Amino acid sequence: MPSFAFSRRLKLPAAGLLLAIGASAAIAQPPSNPLSIAPWMNTALSPDARADLIIEQMTEDEQLTLVMGYFGAPLNLGFTRQPPAAIKPSLTGTAGYIPGIPRLGIPAQIETDAGVGVANNNHMRLGDTATALPATIATAATFDPDIAFQSGTVIANEARARGYNVVLDGSLNLGREPRGGRTFEYAGEDPLLAGTIAGEVIRGIQSRHAMSTVKHYALNDQETGRGILSAEIQEQPMRESDLLAFEIAIEHGSPGAVMCAYNRVNGDYSCENGFLLNHVLKQDWGYPGFVLSDWGGVHSTIESANNGLDQESARDFDGKDFFGPALKKAIADGKVSKDRLHDMAHRILRSMIANGLFDDPPVKGAPPLMADTAIATKDAEEAIVLLKNDGNILPLTKGAKTIAVIGGHADLGMISGGGSSQVIPTGDANGETEVAATSAENKGINWLGRVVYDPPSPLSAIKAEAPSAIVRYDDGTDLGSAVSRARNSDVAIVFAKVWRSEGQDVNSLSLEPGDDALIEAVAAANPHTIVVLETGGPVTMPWIDKVQGVVEAWYAGNGGAVALAHILFGDVNPSGRLPITFPVSEDQLPNPQLPGHDVKSGPFDVSYPEGADVGYRWFAKQKSAPLFPFGFGLSYTHFTLSNFSAHADQAIAGDIDVTNDGKVAGREVVQLYARPPGAMSRLVGFASIELQPGETKHLTIPAEPRLFAQFDVDAQKWKIDAGNYELMAATSSTSIGPSMNVVMPEREINP
Ligand code: BGC
Repeated sequence: MPSFAFSRRLKLPAAGLLLAIGASAAIAQPPSNPLSIAPWMNTALSPDARADLIIEQMTEDEQLTLVMGYFGAPLNLGFTRQPPAAIKPSLTGTAGYIPGIPRLGIPAQIETDAGVGVANNNHMRLGDTATALPATIATAATFDPDIAFQSGTVIANEARARGYNVVLDGSLNLGREPRGGRTFEYAGEDPLLAGTIAGEVIRGIQSRHAMSTVKHYALNDQETGRGILSAEIQEQPMRESDLLAFEIAIEHGSPGAVMCAYNRVNGDYSCENGFLLNHVLKQDWGYPGFVLSDWGGVHSTIESANNGLDQESARDFDGKDFFGPALKKAIADGKVSKDRLHDMAHRILRSMIANGLFDDPPVKGAPPLMADTAIATKDAEEAIVLLKNDGNILPLTKGAKTIAVIGGHADLGMISGGGSSQVIPTGDANGETEVAATSAENKGINWLGRVVYDPPSPLSAIKAEAPSAIVRYDDGTDLGSAVSRARNSDVAIVFAKVWRSEGQDVNSLSLEPGDDALIEAVAAANPHTIVVLETGGPVTMPWIDKVQGVVEAWYAGNGGAVALAHILFGDVNPSGRLPITFPVSEDQLPNPQLPGHDVKSGPFDVSYPEGADVGYRWFAKQKSAPLFPFGFGLSYTHFTLSNFSAHADQAIAGDIDVTNDGKVAGREVVQLYARPPGAMSRLVGFASIELQPGETKHLTIPAEPRLFAQFDVDAQKWKIDAGNYELMAATSSTSIGPSMNVVMPEREINP
C-alpha cells in the first residue's frame, strides 16, 4: 500500500481540484498514479472514513453517477431508453454496469449474475463457459456452511477473472411456495438454514474481493405475478420468517448490497417500501451497505429515494427516468435532500471499499478450473439426498453385469435451472449440451433461453465407475423400448426431472409429463429400479412404493454426474438432507392452488395461512404427514445419538455424542430443534460430523436465540418468554432423538 507521508499538494485531474494531502518532507519521485496516494486510499482508515473523504471531493453530478446503472449487455430488448453511446463500449454482456469516476479513481461497478456460478444467460457471450455449481437448494441440502463458503470463493474467482467486481448472488427467498420457479436458486424453507447457507456463500464471495448482494428483499417467494403481487403478512410472522432469514444472512455475510424485490409487500413495492428498507434494514439492523433495485423494480423517484433505495439498477429496464435527471430535479426542488444523496453515495462507496473494489481490482485471466470443479463436486456429493434404499439396493456393486440408464438426457449432462442465473457450463463452449430451442421441451420458453445440461453426462460417469458392466442407455421416449431395456438388465436407473426457471412457476409438483408413467413401466419390468431425481424443489412420487431406490440429485452442476456416480457405487456415502419438505400432494400446502394462477391481469394479493410456520412447521401444525420431511436423508451407515444435554444461559447450545455404528465411514447431520411453550418446534441449530465405523465424537451445537423468541411488535424487540423449552437432537424434523427440557427466564435478545 502507498505511504501516507504526504509532502505536496496533489492536483487531481478534470475538476482542477487542489487537495491538501499532508505536509511532511519532500518525496523524490512523484507516484506514477497520483490517485494511488489519495487520502481515501489509506487502508488504515475505515471504509466509512474513506468514503467520506471521497464524497468531500465529489460534485453532485458525480454522486448522481453512482446511483444509476445501465443494463450490462449490448442487447436490444426493445427498451424505450438505450444507453448513451459513451457507455455502450463498456457493456460487455453482463447484468449491469455503473460507470466509475476516473478523476477520483472510483472504479466502475461491473455486475454479473451468479446464482450458481458466473451466469451467461442465453449464451450471449458465445463460448464463455464457467463452473456450474450445484443449485443453492442443493448447497442448502449439505447443511454445511463451509462448503457454502467455498462455493462462494469459486464464484468470486471466476467473476474476477472476467473483470466483474459485483456478484448478484446471495439468493435468498424462503421456500414458502414449493412450486416457485426459482426455488432452486434459494436455500430452502427454514430461516436459520437458508440464512446461514446464503450468508456463507456471500462471505465466500466477498473473501475474494468481489462485492455480493443478498436478494430479493423481501417475500419474492413466487414468480407468478412477481411484478404485481402484494405479499400480505403481519409484521410478527414476517420478522420471524422471511426477514429473519435475511437478517441471519446479512450477519453471516455482510453483503455490500441488498437487492430489493419486484413484488409489493403489504401494498408497497419492495424498492420503495419504507418499512422494509429504512425501518427494518437500515435502522433496526443497522445495515451500512446500499440497496439496489432488481432489474425493472423501480416505480418512483421521490418515494424510492426517501424510502431507502440507493441505486437504480439497469435503468433501461425501468422504462421511465427515475434516478437520472428526475432525481436531480427532485433534489433541486427540495423533495429529496442533498444529505440523502450523500447517504446513497456514501453507502455505495463504503461497500465498494469494504470489499476490495478500490484496493484489489479484478485482473482478467484464467480461473483455476480444476480446483473449482473439485469444490463443485464436493458440494454435490454432500448435497445429494438418498430418499429410499429398500433392500440396500444402493450402493451398487461394481460387479453389476448389466445396467440400464433410462431417460432424463442422462447421455448429455445434469439438468440446470433457467433464467438470469443460467451458467453456460464448463465443457459446453459450443452449446452441445443445450437442448435445441425447437424441441418439445422448449415450447414457450421465450426469453428464458434453452434448457442447458451440465456436462459430463451421468451415463459416462456410471460407465467409468463400472468398467466391466454393460451400461446401455435408452432415452425413455418410447415406453416399449425402455421397458425392454429394463427387463434385460440387472438394474434400471431412471433419470426423472423438472426444469424450473426464473419467470415462471410450475403448476404442480409433478415430474415432467411422461416421467411418472416411465418410472411405473420400468419398475413393473424390473424390481431393481432406482429413480434419480433432478429437480429444483419438491416433487410428488405416486410410484414411490414400486421402486427400490430414490436419489434426489437436484440441479447438480458440473460436478454432479461424478458425485452421483460416486454415491451410486458407494465411493461416497450420501449425507445430504432435505432443506424443504416434500409433500404427498399439493392439497397439503397452505395454498393448495398457486396464488395468482388464475389472475389474467392487474394486481393481486398473496396471503400466507402458515404465517411464520413455513414448511415443516405448517405440516406439524396441520398434523399432516409429508412424503419426506425437512431434514431427512439416508446413509449407507447407521449413526446413534447419545448423552444429550442442553444449556440455556446467555448462550444456548446442545451437546451430544454421535457414534457411527455401521460398517462404512460417513457424515451425519445432527439437527437441534426447540419447542417454545405453546409453539411449533423449529430448527435452532445444526452441525455435521465425519465418522469412521465404530467411531464416536462429541458435538456442541450452538443455538440461535431468536428462534426461541417472539418478535414483540409493540416493543420492536425479540423477547423470550419465561417457561419450559424442549430441546431435541434429531436427524430430521420428524425423527426426534434424545431431548430435554430447559427452563428459561424472560429476557430480551439483542442480536
Ligand atoms: C432477477 C435478479 C437478477 C437480475 C439481473 C432479475 O430478473 O430477478 O435476480 O440479478 O435480473 O439479471
